[in-house]
Amino acid sequence: MTAIQGKRILIGVTGGIAAYKACVLTSRLTKAGCDVHVMMTKEAKQFVSPQTFQALSRNPVHDDIFTEKNEHQIAHIDLADQADLIIIAPATAHTIAKLAHGLADDMVTAAVLATKAPVWVAPAMNVNMYHHPAVQKNLEIIQTYGYRVLKPDSGMLACGWVGEGRLMEPDAIYEEIEDYFGQAHQKDLQGYRILVTAGPTREKIDPVRFLTNHSSGKMGYAIAACAQKRGADVLLITGPTELDPPAGVEVIRVESALEMYEAVMKHFDEMDAVIKTAAVSDYRPKAVSDRKIKKTEDHPKIELVRNPDILEELGRRKTTQILIGFAAETHDLDHYAKGKLEKKKLDMVVANDVARTDTGFRSNDNEVTFYFRNGDIRHLHKMPKAEVAQELCNLLTEMLDKKKGSV
Ligand SMILES: Cc1cc2nc3c(=O)[nH]c(=O)nc-3n(C[C@H](O)[C@H](O)[C@H](O)COP(=O)(O)O)c2cc1C
Repeated sequence: MTAIQGKRILIGVTGGIAAYKACVLTSRLTKAGCDVHVMMTKEAKQFVSPQTFQALSRNPVHDDIFTEKNEHQIAHIDLADQADLIIIAPATAHTIAKLAHGLADDMVTAAVLATKAPVWVAPAMNVNMYHHPAVQKNLEIIQTYGYRVLKPDSGMLACGWVGEGRLMEPDAIYEEIEDYFGQAHQKDLQGYRILVTAGPTREKIDPVRFLTNHSSGKMGYAIAACAQKRGADVLLITGPTELDPPAGVEVIRVESALEMYEAVMKHFDEMDAVIKTAAVSDYRPKAVSDRKIKKTEDHPKIELVRNPDILEELGRRKTTQILIGFAAETHDLDHYAKGKLEKKKLDMVVANDVARTDTGFRSNDNEVTFYFRNGDIRHLHKMPKAEVAQELCNLLTEMLDKKKGSV
C-alpha cells in the first residue's frame, strides 16, 4: 500500500488553456489508487468536457454548485469535508483573485472556503498576467491563509509569449502530492536541529567584480527542504543563488567565505548535524579595492590569501554533532573523498564528479558516492537531487538515531 493510495483528492479545474493538463494529473492520481473528484468552473468547460474528467476519475464531476448529484448531501460541503487535499490546477488569475478575497460563487471556490484540508494552487497564465502586481498580491494573500502555491514553470506559453506562467508539469505536481503524503508518515527527523550550507561564495575584488564558482545551491536546498519535510528544524546558510528558499526553513544569506564561516560557527553548537554542500571559495583577494580597478596596458596581478576551512574547523570543534561534507572533484574522486573524510573528521563524505555536465553543478540531477567512517562505500546511480536528498536523509536519520541510542 503506497502513501497516496485511498487518499481523496479534489482537483479544481478553472478556465485556462492548461485545463487539458489536469486530465493527465487526474489520470495519474486515479491510476495510483487515489479517490479523485474533479470540480470545474463554468469557463473550464470551454476547454475540456466534464465527461473526460468523469471517465478518467471514475467519479461524477461537479461543475455547478446548485446541481446536487446526491439529494442527501450538499456537494461542496461534503466534498470539502472529506478531502485529504484540494488542488486547483490550473488556477486562473480570476480564480486566484476570488480565493484571495473569499468569494464562493462556484464549486471550486466554495469548496476551498468550506474545507479544513490543505489547499494547493497551481497558477497558469500568460507571463504578463502572472507578473501583474494584482496577481502577485493575490498570490501573497492566499499564502497567508496557508494555501500552498505551486510555482509555475518558465518556457514557451500557449499564447506565444516566453516566460513564467506555464502550469507546473502534471508529473511534477503528482510527485509533490506523493511526497506530501509519503512524508506526512515519515517525520523521522523530528526533534533534530540541522544546519545545511549551500551555494557558492563571492569574494570581492573591487565594487563590481568578484571570484566565485558554478555552484547553483540546488543540492543543498533539496536537502534542506527534505529534512524540513521530515520534521527537522532546519537552518540554511546560503551563498547567493537564484533559488527560492524551501518553505519552513530558517535562512541566513551570506556572500563571502568569511561571512559563511562566521554564521556557521555562531550556530554550530546548537546543531545535531551539519551538512555542508556549499562550494566555499578556498581563496579571497588579499586586498579589496574600494574603487573599480581600471583597465591598463600592463597585466595586473590579484594576490590571493587562504580562506578559513569551515569544515576542518567544525571537525576540530565537534562534540556530538554529525558532520557530513560534500566533495566536488574533477579527478581522483575516491582519493580526495577519503582524504577529506579523515582530515576533517567527518562522519560521511558525499562525492560527486563536477567535470560531468549532465550531473553536479547547476544540474537537477546528481550521481554521488557516499563514503563512511568504517570504510563502507555506497554508490547511487544518477537521479534527481530531491531523491539524493531523500537517500542522504535516510542515512542521516540512522546516524542520529544510533548516536542518540548510544548516549
Ligand atoms: C483561449 C483562452 C485561454 C485562456 N487562458 C487563460 C489562462 O491560461 N490563465 C488565465 O488566468 N486565464 C485564461 N483565460 C481567461 C479566463 O478564461 C477568464 O479569466 C475566466 O473568467 C476564468 O474563469 P474561472 O477562473 O472562473 O475559470 C483564457 C481565456 C481564453 C478565451
